[in-house]
Amino acid sequence: MLSRLFKSASARAARAAVRVSAVSAVSAALWVAGVSLSTTAQAQVTGNVQAGEGKAAMCIGCHGIPGYQNSFPEIHRVPMISGQSQQYLVNALVAYQKGDRRHPSMRGIAGSLTEQDMADLAAFYAQQAGNISVAETPSRPAPPAVAALLDRGACASCHGANFSKPLDPSYPKIGGQHADYLFVALRSYTVQGNNVIGRNNGIMAGIAAQYTPAELRAMANYLGSIEGELRVVPQPRFRK
Ligand code: HEC
Ligand code: HEC
Repeated sequence: MLSRLFKSASARAARAAVRVSAVSAVSAALWVAGVSLSTTAQAQVTGNVQAGEGKAAMCIGCHGIPGYQNSFPEIHRVPMISGQSQQYLVNALVAYQKGDRRHPSMRGIAGSLTEQDMADLAAFYAQQAGNISVAETPSRPAPPAVAALLDRGACASCHGANFSKPLDPSYPKIGGQHADYLFVALRSYTVQGNNVIGRNNGIMAGIAAQYTPAELRAMANYLGSIEGELRVVPQPRFRK
C-alpha cells in the first residue's frame, strides 16, 4: 500500500518539479550572493539548554534509546537528533506542528510545544552530543555510481562536502544519520496530498523527485555509512 501511495504521489511531485527547480535555482543564486534563505522570519526566541533538558523528558522514550524503531510508514530507526543543527531542529518541529511534515506521532508531539519549548529543546539537543567535528571529507568515498547520484543533485553544495557541515544552519546534517531513516525521509519529500505520509519542502521535493526509490536507497545507504556528528545519547528516564 505504501508503494502505491508513493507512486501516485511521485507522479504529482514530478509535475511539481519544474516549478520547484525554479525555486532551487533562485535559492542557489541567493547563496552565491551570500544571502541566507533561512525561513525564520518570525521573532527569534532564544533557546535555553537547561530548560530544554527538562522538557526533553517527553522525547527520550524514542530519541534517547539506541536503535529504537518506528513502524510508520515502514519500519525504520528513529532519527538521531543529538548534535543536529539547532535552527534545523526548530524548523523541523515547526514543520510537524504546521502539518508540512505529516508523520502522525511527531505531529502530535510538536503540536503540544510552544515556540519557547522548541527553541529550548533545539538548544539542548544541538549541544547534547558534545563537540564532535568530523573531517572535511567523508570518512569513506562514495562508490562511483553513488557519487554520480550525489553529484546530480548537488547534495554536497547544501549539506556540506562531508554531509555534516550544512551551508545554512537551517539545513540538516545528514552524514552518519541512520540509513533507513534517511531513505524514509527522502521518499517522504516525494509524497503530496496524503494526510499521514509526506513532507512539503520547496527545496527537497524538487530534488527527491529526480530519483527512483532504488537510487534514493543507494544514497541513503552511503550517507548512513560515513562518519557524522549525530548521536543517540541515552538519558536516565528519571533525573536525580
Ligand atoms: C513516539 C516516538 C517519538 C517521540 C516521543 C518523539 N519523537 Fe521525534 N521523531 C520520531 C520519529 C519516528 C521521527 C521521524 C518522523 C518522520 O519520518 O518525519 C521523529 C522526528 C523528529 C525530528 C526530525 C528529525 C530530522 O532529522 O528531521 C525532530 C527534530 C524530533 N523528532 C524531535 C523530537 C522532540 C524534541 C521530541 C520531544 C518533545 C520528540 N521528537 C519526541 C519519534 C518520536
Ligand atoms: C538546495 C539545497 C539542498 C540540496 C541541493 C539538497 N538538499 Fe537535502 N535538504 C535541504 C534542506 C533545506 C532540507 C530540510 C528540509 C526540511 O525542512 O524538511 C534538506 C533535507 C534533507 C534530508 C532530510 C534530513 C532529515 O534529517 O530528515 C535528506 C535525507 C536530504 N536532504 C538529502 C539530500 C540529498 C541526498 C541530496 C542530493 C540528492 C540533497 N539533500 C540535496 C537542502 C538541500
